[in-house]
Amino acid sequence: MKLLILTVGIATTLSWSITTLAQAQTDFGKEEFESKCASCHGQDGKGGGPLSHAFITKPADLTVLMKNNGGVFPAQRVYEVIDGRKDVEAHGPRAMPVWGREFRAKTPDIEGYYDLRSSVAQAKILALIDYLYRLQDIK
Ligand code: HEC
Repeated sequence: MKLLILTVGIATTLSWSITTLAQAQTDFGKEEFESKCASCHGQDGKGGGPLSHAFITKPADLTVLMKNNGGVFPAQRVYEVIDGRKDVEAHGPRAMPVWGREFRAKTPDIEGYYDLRSSVAQAKILALIDYLYRLQDIK
């Protein structure tokens, strides 16, 4: 009987914690975007962030990446822009991007590249790409 009460107790606590976790959903991609990209590209991704006036070449409108690529989201290109394999001058030098080292690429030519947190970096990039995909203007 004691064992049964204990089991039921544990099961109840567990299902309660799972429900609480599920309710506290965090949009990781949105968070990454807002903390690392929105200052230039804008909260809505259209390129009008508070720093955009400082650039001669305005930050790209990130909501039309798919439209400008024949209706296919250019995930690989965007990944490489973020991890530094593809240079965008306004993003800073690849070894020192404006958003810091969090999205380091797995390319041995970048000095000091081998980031122990690279799987964390990959997860962050994928979350960011997922968010950018959701921002696409598909009309
Ligand atoms: C300091 C300002 C700044 C920040 C921060 C910034 N960008 Fe940019 N980004 C720019 C500018 C300016 C351009 C346009 C450069 C050009 O056309 O040469 C651009 C272009 C791009 C492009 C288009 C590249 C292409 O080849 O079409 C992508 C994709 C992009 N940014 C993604 C991001 C993402 C994702 C983040 C956040 C991780 C980010 N940017 C953060 C300024 C910024």
